[in-house]
Order: sequence, then C-alpha cells, then structure tokens
Amino acid sequence: MHPKPKYIPILAESANGAFKDAWDTAEQAPPDWYIVDDFFQNNNNIPWIKDVHAQGRVYWLKAGESSKTLAEVENILAWLTQNNANRQQSVAVIGGGTVLDAGLFATSIYQRGVQKWSLPTTLLAAVDAGIGGKNGVNFMGFKNYVGTITQPDFVVTDFRVFESLDTLHVLNGWMEMAKHALIADPALWYSMKQFESVPPTKTVHTLIRDAAAIKKRLVEADEFESGLRKTLNFGHTVGHALESAAASRSENLSHGIAVGLGMMVSLHWSADQAVDHRIQSELVDAAHCIKHWLNLAVPAYVEIAVNAADLDTLWAFMEKDKKNDTNGVQEVRLTKIGQAEWNQLLSRSAFEISWSSAHRGV
Ligand SMILES: NC(=O)c1ccc[n+]([C@@H]2O[C@H](COP(=O)([O-])OP(=O)(O)OC[C@H]3O[C@@H](n4cnc5c(N)ncnc54)[C@H](O)[C@@H]3O)[C@@H](O)[C@H]2O)c1
Repeated sequence: MHPKPKYIPILAESANGAFKDAWDTAEQAPPDWYIVDDFFQNNNNIPWIKDVHAQGRVYWLKAGESSKTLAEVENILAWLTQNNANRQQSVAVIGGGTVLDAGLFATSIYQRGVQKWSLPTTLLAAVDAGIGGKNGVNFMGFKNYVGTITQPDFVVTDFRVFESLDTLHVLNGWMEMAKHALIADPALWYSMKQFESVPPTKTVHTLIRDAAAIKKRLVEADEFESGLRKTLNFGHTVGHALESAAASRSENLSHGIAVGLGMMVSLHWSADQAVDHRIQSELVDAAHCIKHWLNLAVPAYVEIAVNAADLDTLWAFMEKDKKNDTNGVQEVRLTKIGQAEWNQLLSRSAFEISWSSAHRGV
C-alpha cells in the first residue's frame, strides 16, 4: 500500500473556471492560502483566483528556474508566517513545475508541513512534476539539489487549463510523456509515435491520463526512490547537465526540451548495448522520433541548445548529479521499449560516443 494514502488524483471539469469545484469533488473545505503562478494574474483560465486575491490570500510566484531558490522559499515562508497561516489550514499551489517545486517545498517545511494541494497548470506538471511529492529548489548551480519527498494531499487535473500553453510548453510536457512511455508503457509509446508532430492537448486527453497514471504507479511502488522510481530519471542525467550548463551561461533551457535531448543520448547509449538487432533499431528509431518532434516544433531553440553544449562542462555537471554513487555517473538504460534498468554506470567515453550519435547534424 502507498505509504501516504491521502494522495488523491481528482478530475475536475467545473463550469466555473479551471479547478473551481475541486474542493467539492474532494469533499474538502477550499484551501485557505494560494501560491499561484503569476501567469494567472493576466490570464482568465482561473477567473475565481481574482476574488481570492482580493481577500489577500494569494502569493503570486513568478514561474521559472529563477524562482527555484532558497531565497524565494524564504519569501513564501515569511508570507505564510505574516498571515498567521497554521497547521489546521491548507495551501493550494497552482502552476507549472517550477511553481509547484518551490511552492510545495515551502508548504512541506512550513511548521513542518501543512495540508497541501497540487494543482498543475502545464502539461509537464500534470504528467510529472505535480505528482509524486518531490519538491525543492536548485542550489549552487545544481538542479533540484535541496528538497524533500513529501506527498501532496490532493492532486487536481483540469485539462482546460492547458489550452493557453504555447508550442514550447506543450512540447515540454510531451517529452515527459514520451519518457514515461519509453520506460514503462510500449502501447503508450506506439500511440504517441503515430503523431508526426506534437498534437494539441485537447486531442490527446487519454494519452495524457495514461502518462500521468504511469508516474503515479511508479511513485506508489517506490515512493522514496530506492529502486523502480529511479527509472523516471531516464534522460535526466544529461538533461539536468544541459539545464545547469545553460543556467551557468545565464540562459534558460526548458526542462522538457533538455530531457528530450538527454533521452536521445540515453537511447543511443542503450541501443549500443542491445544485442538484439530489432531492439537496437527500435531504440535508435525512438531517438529519431524525439529529434523529429523537437526539430519540427522549435528548430532554432534546439539548434542553439545543442551547439552551445560543451562536453567538458556537461560531464562536470553530470559528475555532480545527485543520483550518482561513489562508482561514478549513474544513468537509466532501456533494455527495450517500455523496460528500463537503473543504476547503470555511464563512462565519459560512452557519453561522448552517444552524444555524437544523437546530436550529430541537429
Ligand atoms: N518535482 C518533480 O517531480 C518534477 C518532475 C519534472 C519536472 N520538474 C521540474 O519542473 C520544472 C519545469 O516545469 P514547467 O515545464 O511546467 O515549467 P514552468 O513552471 O517554468 O512553466 C513554464 C511556463 O508556462 C507558464 N504557464 C503555466 N501554466 C500555464 C498555462 N496554463 N498556460 C500558459 N502558460 C502557462 C508559466 O508561467 C511559465 O512561463 C523544472 O524546474 C523541473 O525540474 C519537477
């Protein structure tokens, strides 16, 4: 049984704007406090948030990696303290992955934790960041280095909120969906693969649900990441290094795109070790499919990210990845589509070969 059974996904499709009836659906009182992506200050997807704001119960948090800092978490904690928020009350965090990571971390440590709602508003957050209880911030240039694993009490999904996402952010979520499919669900992967380009979210609700269900299932099987949950890090060793390297140049690289570029490397590395030729070509084909989606949707963005990558810098970040043990850089390897092995040692030379196979000619 899941160690925290209060984790409840809810499908809320109210007529009153995104998420509005979630509390009724869950038979709970509405949250007392709201930490909200500041995108919704000027977007009308969540119209009722303006009323809550007028009551002084909203902390607007700017989305982005620049908000995933201990300083920002301290600001949130100060706001909760100044408002006398207490442990009998609950906090809703509404936003994309960065707002959820920082906001849910603050609510996990405020007075040692208050009841909290995770309300993802990006596709990436709905299929990944909003589920599973990992929260936290970046630290000293390293991604997600400080944080906790503390389950939210409720996770609410409302598909309508995705309709204002731009191509880049749909693609980001699509990349995490692809990751879930590649590590755990061949049927989902073959369904996704049929799309020549990344589809509008409203046409793929079932696939989104399936991808979110994979995350939930893996977290329930291994909440504290002693084994199986590690497979969700597929593509993330290189992906996080790309993000950290971009941040060190004061540039921003979207998480999903970084993971997509990282998965391409891991797929080639996995293919190099596959003995079965059919499996080998399926893995390489998957890398090509991801490359195609990325290049079709945001070609200039991808080209800049790949051309700016310096392998010495990436490797230095990979050596500091928090998944590593004393033996070296750990990566997730696919043994076939839908099956992954964790704690696999990746050597520097294998990384360079796979990088070159994946990104030559991007
Ligand atoms: N905790 C986890 O398990 C986990 C898992 C995966 C990723 N992450 C983290 O998630 C972060 C990435 O999340 P993200 O991709 O959501 O990025 P993000 O939070 O930066 O959001 C992307 C952009 O979308 C905007 N936005 C939010 N909702 C919107 C909507 N409905 N319509 C239009 N725009 C909207 C935001 O304001 C922002 O500009 C990374 O920091 C990553 O490390 C965490």
